[in-house]
Formats: sequence, structure tokens, C-alpha cells
Amino acid sequence: MSMPSKTDILSGEDAASIERAAVLLRAGELVGMPTETVYGLAANALDEAAVAKVFEAKARPSFDPLIVHVPSAQQAAELVVFDETARRLAEAFWPGPMTLVLPRKKNEQGQPFVPDLVTAGLDSVGLRVPDHPVALALLSASGCPLAAPSANRFGSISPTLARHVVDELDGRVAAVLDGGPCDRGVESTVVRVSDQGVEVLRLGALAVEQIEAVVGQRVEVRRPSSSPGRESSGQALPSPGLTERHYAPGTPMRLLASADELSSHESGGRWALVCMGPVPDGAEAFAVLRNLSDSGDLSFAAAALFSTLRELDGMGLDGIVALAVADEGIGKAINDRLKRGSAR
Ligand code: TXA
Ligand code: MG
Repeated sequence: MSMPSKTDILSGEDAASIERAAVLLRAGELVGMPTETVYGLAANALDEAAVAKVFEAKARPSFDPLIVHVPSAQQAAELVVFDETARRLAEAFWPGPMTLVLPRKKNEQGQPFVPDLVTAGLDSVGLRVPDHPVALALLSASGCPLAAPSANRFGSISPTLARHVVDELDGRVAAVLDGGPCDRGVESTVVRVSDQGVEVLRLGALAVEQIEAVVGQRVEVRRPSSSPGRESSGQALPSPGLTERHYAPGTPMRLLASADELSSHESGGRWALVCMGPVPDGAEAFAVLRNLSDSGDLSFAAAALFSTLRELDGMGLDGIVALAVADEGIGKAINDRLKRGSAR
């Protein structure tokens, strides 16, 4: 396949750039798109050849389905079937960092509107309306639903700046729209609504507590699995992206449950410590210290997480020690990413 040799960064504030990106998408090319969570690698979701390029560019296994981005819940309803609960969730949280996994809608001939390649053959589609002016402008200018996974190589750290997309995928994506740093910094919460009820398939920027408040009852959270595409029981994973090792820096990473465990850390060589809030005793032993939020603000820490890990990864360190954060709200998603980034 012929690939452009270099990726252009286009200003997301410029109408001509949005139009240029929309033209590229309609021509079956890939575009890096800012969202409030992380940057996505977008393709026309209804063009299978374009979607195939996404899998190739990311080196993503084809069993892992893509999220389809749409400009509104009305557009979503053309592609999937909403029940009452799904409607309430969309109403409450779109535009925003929630992906709803819902049954695929089919035409009169029984053909689904969203192609198999996007859903990895599943009979459901993950959809969301992103809360970012550049993403919404691109969706409306292109006039097509956009399949967009995070714009990183498979398994590595998600990009939260346009420059990260180029670092990961230079020459594999035609252009990146620069929308500045992503506010949320971790991916959307993936929520499946089915006859089995409401389940969180991936923790993310929308807190489980907020979902429970709308659903009116407790919501189950699926745990990642160690074998790609399978649960430990051998069953097919409900969400193939739930593999244990993911979001990982190349530098070895260890996750500690609390600062008390710092004394057990044998720091041969140069290590970094990633913490949040007051700096713990024992931090002096580390060559590099990164505080995700001095004031201990979880949203702020989430927004800083991936860019901090990416920066540390570029420093040639022997390792990274991360301290778990409070396991509440978006803190659950931060801990999930730290845990999966340190899985071997
Ligand atoms: O915030 C986000 O969600 C970002 C931005 C770009 O929107 N996108 C993102 O996409 O994180 P990706 O491909 O890196 O992760 C998509 C996740 C995967 O875990 C995938 O398995 C799951 O969503 N997923 C997508 N469609 C699904 C479906 N039909 N059933 C179950 N899981 C699905
Ligand atoms: Mg991803």
C-alpha cells in the first residue's frame, strides 16, 4: 500500500484545515483527530478499505473492534438500536467520554450498516459523540461516521497531544488536526447495554458512580484478561480491548498500592517515581520525580497521566514506579491504566 511519507499537522482552529481533513477522510485516508479523551486515528467507518488502513497503521489485531464517532445521538440511532436505558445514558452523557456498545442495526436486506471489520464481527457497535469542537467540526464537515481507535501503536500509550500522534504514526496517517492537549487524558468509559443489563467493559473518563446514578442501580465492571481476546475462563472477551497488558511504556513499570511499599523497592539504577498529592517519604531515592497533581486533584492527574508516562519513557530510565491513586471516580481509570501499563 502506498503511504504518505510524512504526516502534516493542521491547525484545528482553521476552517480550511478541517475541510482538508474532511476531504482526506472522504477519499479513504486516515486523519488524526483530537477528542476530549485522547487523540483518535479516524477513518470513514462505512469504507472498509479505509478501516483496514487503521488496523494496519496501528498494527492492531483484527479481533479488536473500533469505536465509531458520530456528531449526535440521532446519527447514532441510524446505526444501532437504542433501548430506554441506552437513551437515558446518551441523553445524560453525550457529547462526552462514554462509549455505548449497542446492537447493530440492519437494513431491509438484513445487512448491518456498520461493516464487520469495524465491529470485529461482533453483533454490536461501540459508539460515542465526542465532546471536542474540532472532532464535532470534522464529523460534520466529512458527513460520515468516523471509526477511530486511539492514535497509538497497539498496546502502547495513548496520545494526548498532536505531536504524540506523529511520534507514534508518522507517515502512516495523512494528517493530524491539532486541537491542543486533551482535557480528560484517559479514554472513554465503554458501557454495554444489553438484555443482561448495563456493564462497564472498560473503565474510563466517565466515573462508574455517575453511570450508576443514571441507571439507578449498581453496574458491573469487567476485569481485564491476561490472554488476548479471551477471558481467563477461555470464553471470548466481551470487549477484546480488555487485555491485561496495554497502555504500556517501553520502560519497565511497577505499580505500588501505597507509599508504605516504597521501602520494599530496590532501586538499582535510575528510576522515576510517579505520585500524586503530597510527596511521600522515600521519594529521595528516585532519580526523577513526577507529581501528577500537587493538590491531589484526580481529574488533573488523569489529564497529565499519559504525557508524563510518555515523557519518562523517553528518558532512558531503568524503570518507573507508580503509586496507585484513590480508587474512586476517574481514579479507578487511572489505576486501571497504571496496572495494565505495568503488567508483563
Ligand atoms: O476515548 C476513547 O474511547 C478513544 C477516543 C479516540 O474516542 N478511543 C479509544 O479507542 O480508546 P480504542 O480502539 O483504543 O479502544 C476501544 C475499546 C476497545 O477496548 C474495544 O475492545 C472496545 O472499545 N469496543 C469497541 N467496540 C466494541 C464492541 N462492539 N463490543 C465490545 N467492546 C468494544
Ligand atoms: Mg487504545
